[in-house]
Amino acid sequence: MPSGITPEFLEDLKSRCDIVRIAQKYMPVERKGSRFWARCPFHHEKTASFMLDQTSQFYHCFGCGVSGDVIGFVRAIENVDFFDAVRLLCEDANIPMPELKMNDVKDIEDRKKRKDRLLRLMKDTANFYYKKLLEEEGRAALTYLQNRGVTPESRKAFALGYSPDLSSLVKALSQHGYTEEEMISAGVVGSKNGRVYDFLTDRLIYPIVNSFGDVIAFGGRSLEKKPDFAKYKNTGDTPLFNKKQNLYAINLVKAYKREQTVEDIIVVEGYMDVIALHQAGFRNTVASMGTALTKEQARMLKRYADKVYICYDGDAAGQKGAIRGMEILAEEGLKVFVVSLPDGLDPDELIKERGKEAYRKALSEALPLVDFKLLALKKEFDVSSVDGKRQYALAAVKVIALQSEPIMHESLLRRIHEETGFMMVTLQKNLDQIKQNQKPEAELLVEERSAEEDKNTDLLRVLLYVQLYGLIPMDELSNVRAAFTDACHLQILSYLDACCEAAQKPQPTMLFELLDPSYANEIGAVLSVDRTFSSTEQMVSYAKDVQKRLVQEYLEKAINALSERATHETDPEVRKNTLSELVALKKQLRLMKLKT
Ligand code: CTP
Ligand code: MN
Repeated sequence: MPSGITPEFLEDLKSRCDIVRIAQKYMPVERKGSRFWARCPFHHEKTASFMLDQTSQFYHCFGCGVSGDVIGFVRAIENVDFFDAVRLLCEDANIPMPELKMNDVKDIEDRKKRKDRLLRLMKDTANFYYKKLLEEEGRAALTYLQNRGVTPESRKAFALGYSPDLSSLVKALSQHGYTEEEMISAGVVGSKNGRVYDFLTDRLIYPIVNSFGDVIAFGGRSLEKKPDFAKYKNTGDTPLFNKKQNLYAINLVKAYKREQTVEDIIVVEGYMDVIALHQAGFRNTVASMGTALTKEQARMLKRYADKVYICYDGDAAGQKGAIRGMEILAEEGLKVFVVSLPDGLDPDELIKERGKEAYRKALSEALPLVDFKLLALKKEFDVSSVDGKRQYALAAVKVIALQSEPIMHESLLRRIHEETGFMMVTLQKNLDQIKQNQKPEAELLVEERSAEEDKNTDLLRVLLYVQLYGLIPMDELSNVRAAFTDACHLQILSYLDACCEAAQKPQPTMLFELLDPSYANEIGAVLSVDRTFSSTEQMVSYAKDVQKRLVQEYLEKAINALSERATHETDPEVRKNTLSELVALKKQLRLMKLKT
């Protein structure tokens, strides 16, 4: 066996550490057919949706979407990094831990190295800002923090910093050996006329840290109110950061959860709100950073608790985007409560002006999402008129129909009955109609489209699956490339290419090690897509059909584009070439159709 943590070594280790056996050390596992099931250890649930696949040696939770192989499982459940997970498994298998050396499909390794460098760059940048805040240049910013009541402990816990000018950071990072290209890629600098500059200049810095403790982005607040000047600037989307997939302070909530049980999480809008709340003892607080909540954030929250308090400023909670965000959390199985703060105050202001007890009171008065939505509706209509009442009742019944717990329906209906005076039987009838899918057309259309999209994703997953498991020769899919756009799928394709080039058989679960950890869930979804088929043969023939269809679609599109071009082309020579190209494509399409 070669030295180092090679793919061969990992395959060997994984074959010694059966995922079902390892998982059983941590939780009860039940066999059903060829697969094993358990209650997911990574999110709260009452029924078992956590699947262990012994044949392919991976896990996938159909509830919260997490996936991984045995190494990923140990990482997640022991809360350790990759190398420590390998170390633990080596101990289990009673084999020595090899020297650390990853020499694998080169491309992927380079990407990982690059990512590690960017992470180091972010950490160095955070350190730079942190120190500057304490130096002479940072005095005004430090005073600003003091005036806002931020304690030195909070300043440290949140690693707050200050950016003094346009060039110091760039200079410091260059001295650390980073290239300008790396600074741009990490998103810490802007560039103008070929020069890079610190784009958070003269701002208070809030580092954004992921749950692994890596600094992945920065928020910068301007210290003064200047007209035409954004109060906040944030790192844009980078390979490390996407605002919609992260929550500010999730790292601190994770650490808190290790100290004690966390039953609920408070979601606020702003950096400063998080700091004020943590300081007041509400250490279960994160910020959505001013945007509507997403599915990714919902899943992240679910790993820590199953109850969430949404606590937005003044009217912000009532806005459409905000409500949709809360519905997404509810759809992911979280219990959602909406907190209203008095007099248009934000959490930071409330605590400062009226103390933590006032905040605790507001929390205790939080409304379940459905009540909050009904209240918001009531404000929307003029319920003093008969017509307004009718509109309100209709809209309210729709909201109630969406409630996942039918047990609640009757009492909610009764409330509408009391508020509007419409008879219970009429309201109930309306509810039944809506439940039987007699929805307004517009809503139905939206649903159809998303179901269609889901189907498409599954179909691409099938194509990847059959290649990964060698059910269809690898080169056969080269002509359907264009159909793949998902970043994880593209990486799986380049892995397949690398295997093809090296004439190696793909090792599907190796993807969990080779690809970015953020892709683990999608990898799991790909590797478990076979569950929807009754047999391998059925899956292969389906894959072949899909493949044919995609190629046909591709040819048809190309033919349309070419004939368009041919009609408008004036140069006779070019026109001739286009036409002959067209003939060739048409012939190809005809042949394909003949074969089917
Ligand atoms: N935000 C942003 N860009 C802006 C305004 C806001 O990214 N131009 C995000 C920030 O994450 C901010 C959050 O939205 O923390 C909430 O905005 P706001 O309530 O205005 O800021 P506060 O956090 O309350 O900041 P402060 O109390 O310092 O004014
Ligand atoms: Mn504020």
